[in-house]
Amino acid sequence: MGDFEVLVDVDRCTVDPRVFCDREVYEAEQDRIFGRQWLFVAHECQVPNRGDFVTTTMGEEPVIVVRDRKAGQIRVFLNSCRHRGVKVCRVDEGNTRNFACPYHGWTYDTEGKLRGVPQFREAYYGELDKDAWGLVEAPRVESFRGLVFANFDDDAPTLETHLGEFRWYLDLILDRSHAGMVALPGIHRWRLPGNWKLGAEQFGGDNYHANTLHQSMVKIGLGPPDDGTFRGNRPWEVDFEVKAENGHGWINFDVPIGDLDPAVAAYLERSRAEGRERLAPAQHALIQTVHVGTVFPNFSIIGFIGFTSIRVWHPRGPDAIDVWSYALIEADAPAEVVEYARKIQTLTFAPSGIYEQDDGCVWGEAVEVLSGHQRRKYPLNYQMGDGHGKRVAGRPGTIHPPSTEIGVFGFYDHWRKCMTGA
Ligand code: FES
Ligand SMILES: [Fe+2]
Repeated sequence: MGDFEVLVDVDRCTVDPRVFCDREVYEAEQDRIFGRQWLFVAHECQVPNRGDFVTTTMGEEPVIVVRDRKAGQIRVFLNSCRHRGVKVCRVDEGNTRNFACPYHGWTYDTEGKLRGVPQFREAYYGELDKDAWGLVEAPRVESFRGLVFANFDDDAPTLETHLGEFRWYLDLILDRSHAGMVALPGIHRWRLPGNWKLGAEQFGGDNYHANTLHQSMVKIGLGPPDDGTFRGNRPWEVDFEVKAENGHGWINFDVPIGDLDPAVAAYLERSRAEGRERLAPAQHALIQTVHVGTVFPNFSIIGFIGFTSIRVWHPRGPDAIDVWSYALIEADAPAEVVEYARKIQTLTFAPSGIYEQDDGCVWGEAVEVLSGHQRRKYPLNYQMGDGHGKRVAGRPGTIHPPSTEIGVFGFYDHWRKCMTGA
């Protein structure tokens, strides 16, 4: 194929099915997207002390995220021995002085330096240049509000530049509390059939599906308001979607909150008050409404009446996604509220969550059908709301009330630029 330009038609707002099922497109993404973009690797609270580490992947490649022992700096290394490539760390998390390869025993310190080589004098005659054979390090690691992102591209713009105006929206969740946010222990991980972009695009601006695919949740009052207009109760003001620069997208809406446990209700009230102290007046009306967003390319966040989930859509081939979901909560939330957040997340956005089950059914099916030799000749329609978005004073990005696909198509417009070097 080679010519990725034709896959996204910016005049007609259509996307070629090969974007979701073609192996050549997928392989090119590993370099042009996952090799050059900022990828979420950990929350700072997972590695509070020197020597603490977690393992994850950037794209398909296994990495170690470690707070080094010398300067306490968070570093990210490919989890692969320089001798024959075996993983030097085989557990999810821990604290260590070094990473020892299980194959021949090369040992690296927390700064990635090769320290120990069995039979260094006898077999290598002391001649092996240890300084040249340290772990491969991602050259860029930067944080935003506790979220740690890494980038394999030395020349990438800063994380701050990449997030740009979208930080204004992320702060509605991440900067509303004096105590800051922490991730609860444990990560939900599961594999779904489907393409990684289908998860990313949905969270970045597909409110359209909520009233149909997630009907069962709408009916029990845990979905968007079903008033028949689909525009929400306060369109533009609180119920809206955003196309932000660099492919990021945001959904904002208000849902009527039913009877809550008094401890949770008090917590939400306190959280709103704290948010008003910390955030700009233009942000106040949006505190503790429902937020859903995607940071390009594969990081999403959802804040949903008292709980926040962040997740990564790890690519595992054109037709498989590993979803890793972390629960965030204010560091000083009372125990009852933590328990509530755990339960509501398990019920909604988790492997056992009803929303998650619904979404998991359609993404795999779509990719399977789009792979068909006939179906792949016909593009997918992303035209909803095109040309009707507006700039709203005091609020970043291009805004449109639900439903619209301006945010979703913005994701593919940016994807096209990354894939073609535009
Ligand atoms: S592969 Fe790691 S020491 Fe040989
Ligand atoms: Fe969904």
